[in-house]
Amino acid sequence: MNIKRIGVLTSGGDAPGMNACVRAVVRTAIYHGLECYGIRRGWNGLISGDIIRLDEKSVGHTINKGGTILYTARSTEFMTEEGQRKAVSTCKFLGLDGIIVIGGDGTFRGARALSKHGIHVIGIPGTIDNDISCTNYCIGFDTAANTAIECIDKLRDTMQSHERCSVVEVMGRNAGYLAMYVGLAVGATAVLVPEEPIDFERDVIEKIRQARFNGFTHYMIVVAEGAGSAADIAAKIKDAIDLDPRVTVLGHIQRGGTPSGRDRVNATKMGYLAVEHMIAGNFNRIICTHDGCFTDVDIDEGLSMEKSIQQMEVDVLAAMTGI
Ligand code: F6P
Repeated sequence: MNIKRIGVLTSGGDAPGMNACVRAVVRTAIYHGLECYGIRRGWNGLISGDIIRLDEKSVGHTINKGGTILYTARSTEFMTEEGQRKAVSTCKFLGLDGIIVIGGDGTFRGARALSKHGIHVIGIPGTIDNDISCTNYCIGFDTAANTAIECIDKLRDTMQSHERCSVVEVMGRNAGYLAMYVGLAVGATAVLVPEEPIDFERDVIEKIRQARFNGFTHYMIVVAEGAGSAADIAAKIKDAIDLDPRVTVLGHIQRGGTPSGRDRVNATKMGYLAVEHMIAGNFNRIICTHDGCFTDVDIDEGLSMEKSIQQMEVDVLAAMTGI
């Protein structure tokens, strides 16, 4: 099939680097003589026809910008057969030969539904949660992790001065990848993630006692939002030991900010690859990374894969916090 016109959208929670990816899609498309349309507000834009033509200039100076110039949303209408039919009509009306979607698992499930209606799709993983099973890396994870690390380093200064305990809640929805990575990077006293069984006495109180025994007078507990609320954990610590922990929920601050160099470059490569696959007729794929290399996987296969926290991270954390 001769691809002449494609669409690109961002959907789900935004992630730093999404703009760099949209820019790469647009520039690669134009480089190959294709027309490119931006679909705004995620799947809702495809349903309502909220679509703009994107040229070289429209994505200029966006590589360094957080958020997404295409806006984003989580569309409930697109979950319905009716919503999908409307989206298919928009694709046909505009003569879109394929759609490139940047987002997380929910976005890919939407893309798969669209592909069943005969629309060609390519998915690019973009979520700070880094929880897409078929890929080691998702756009935005690196920046979000660095943001959280910077915030926690700042917190540590004041925790140290006051000889306090801090409980910090990190995003990630049901996944602990972000919390584990951040916890390792800040040298946390304990890290709680939903993927690992939690014994509060052993995994939190004992770690604090051990750190205290070793001469430390402040303690940093990192908790993934999917493993419990920081407020609850702080209350349990207060009940169990003579500490009055302070609670910090980093929240949406982790989703914003200038994308890191790594997120910009990877997003650019993934956007480029998505268009190349589209042109080659290699449809209904997810662009991903495996063992440090870029590759791609069938969308059905990708969505059926499972992922867990790397055992090495668990082992390293145990060695760093268990002495
Ligand atoms: O999926 C990205 C994410 O930031 C999660 O980490 C978090 O649980 C969720 O989105 C928050 O969603 P919302 O922006 O709708 O509050």
